[in-house]
Amino acid sequence: MASLAEEIKRRRTFAIISHPDAGKTTLTEKLLLFGGAIHIAGAVKSNKIKKTATSDWMEIEKQRGISVATSVMGFNYGDYKINILDTPGHQDFAEDTYRTLTAVDSVIIVVDVAKGVEQQTRRLMEVCRMRNTPVIIFVNKLDREGRDPFEILDELEAELKISVRPLSWPINIGAKFKGVYNIYEQSLDLFTPNKQKVSERVEIDNVNDARIDDAVGEKDAQKLRDDLELIEGVYPEFNVEDYRAGLVAPVFFGSALNTFGVKELLDCFVEIAPSPKPVTAEERTVEPYEEQFSGFVFKIHANMDPNHRSCIAFVKVCSGKFERNAPYRHIRSGKVLRFAAPTAFMAQKKSIVDEAYPGDIVGIPDTGTFKIGDTLTEGEMLHYKGLPSFSPEMFKYIENTDPMKSKQLEKGIQQLMDEGVAQLFINQFNGRKIIGTVGQLQFEVIQYRLLNEYGAQCRWEPISLHKACWIESDNPEDLAAFKKRKYQFMAVDKEGRDVFLADSGYVLSMARQDFPTIRFHFSSEF
Ligand code: G4P
Repeated sequence: MASLAEEIKRRRTFAIISHPDAGKTTLTEKLLLFGGAIHIAGAVKSNKIKKTATSDWMEIEKQRGISVATSVMGFNYGDYKINILDTPGHQDFAEDTYRTLTAVDSVIIVVDVAKGVEQQTRRLMEVCRMRNTPVIIFVNKLDREGRDPFEILDELEAELKISVRPLSWPINIGAKFKGVYNIYEQSLDLFTPNKQKVSERVEIDNVNDARIDDAVGEKDAQKLRDDLELIEGVYPEFNVEDYRAGLVAPVFFGSALNTFGVKELLDCFVEIAPSPKPVTAEERTVEPYEEQFSGFVFKIHANMDPNHRSCIAFVKVCSGKFERNAPYRHIRSGKVLRFAAPTAFMAQKKSIVDEAYPGDIVGIPDTGTFKIGDTLTEGEMLHYKGLPSFSPEMFKYIENTDPMKSKQLEKGIQQLMDEGVAQLFINQFNGRKIIGTVGQLQFEVIQYRLLNEYGAQCRWEPISLHKACWIESDNPEDLAAFKKRKYQFMAVDKEGRDVFLADSGYVLSMARQDFPTIRFHFSSEF
């Protein structure tokens, strides 16, 4: 039987992130195919959610139901145990993605070669940077016309604010795309746009091998050599430790749809990507190799069926071995709990597991015990640090429309916020509740769920706000003066922290000018 250390070393837990349509689903599917986790293309449909561009969120929820199974996709690849954490494609659920990023040890970013870095990728990269998450970039759709690869590299560096290092290099692009030279392995794969046989490996010794000329023609072979010379001149040698520290992102080129360049990506990924890393708790840093189990809840997935009110809490194992039916302390409540039916996610199937190791995700059926960010241990008082809250993009007052059900509404709002569906701010001046979200869909989800799960009715009232700013100052008098001046715009978040609700960018810049000692933050940790 493998030891704890061996189990940890062979685990790779990561998420694939991208702007919608760059090819995340396709790449995920191809990785699953290589792992033998699925056998046919087209099996991963979970995040076709994003295709529902309008507010047809019932459809979305139906699909979210299906996607519980695909929330985590575990499979074995060679000696490695791979856990891919799925992230919602729809940008209105970006918060979910941020939280999922707290549970991964590395990330693969997919970028469309024609579109370059898009908005959602930029934002997700900010979260990776906050946590120094190692990043590999896959530039996709080389079979289509796109931009010059050097230009793409420059854009990646500028937009994602990380150094890049190509580990493979394309020979032409679009209709003339001939293949990819693998800098990491010094090999050449030829592209033949044919679904049955897409790639052909050419045996070569190095980049000067004449077999390259035979395979792609002299002109393209020379261009490849020139490009590679330029790359070696411009980009420092790839250093795996820099990658693991989140300082440099290796870049691969390929076509997910054609399964081209994907295996090279996967082979390099398992070799260089980190196994589960130490995790920081408020009290101390916890090593995965510690004997005692600990973990935290990073996601709660509600069941939309009103007849089955249970949720699934997703627990990331951080240290030790998780065992079914063992007594674990739920730190927030102090209670000791045993889990009779924890599930693991292998090859898109959910099944009850007896044990899990650091890097693994365990699904625990829950009826309201857990909140996002809760820690479980064998007894030690540990509080894992989650992700800070970010300023929402949209705000609305939530109003009760059925006075007989105010308790239910209260409870419903509380639980939905614990699940991390949206953020609640309470205006200190008039006590009104303001819900902040990333997108319009979340308001609809909340209204529907309050009615269906709690029997509570609500309506939304507009409020025009620009940003929620968490404020701090070394000067308590200035802070008090600011709060007094802005009392109509002061609120508290769910942790009771002071938040200034700026109604416009102008107001915010004036506030900055008038109160130079106060710092305004767009996230709750600074
Ligand atoms: P996402 O999860 O990041 O949103 O992207 P997804 O994989 O769904 O891919 C978006 C579209 O891009 C899909 O086409 C997919 O087939 C296509 N695609 C992915 N990789 C490649 C590639 O390497 N080359 C080319 N040419 N296309 C690629 P669709 O028509 O929107 O969806 P579908 O009907 O094919 O599923």
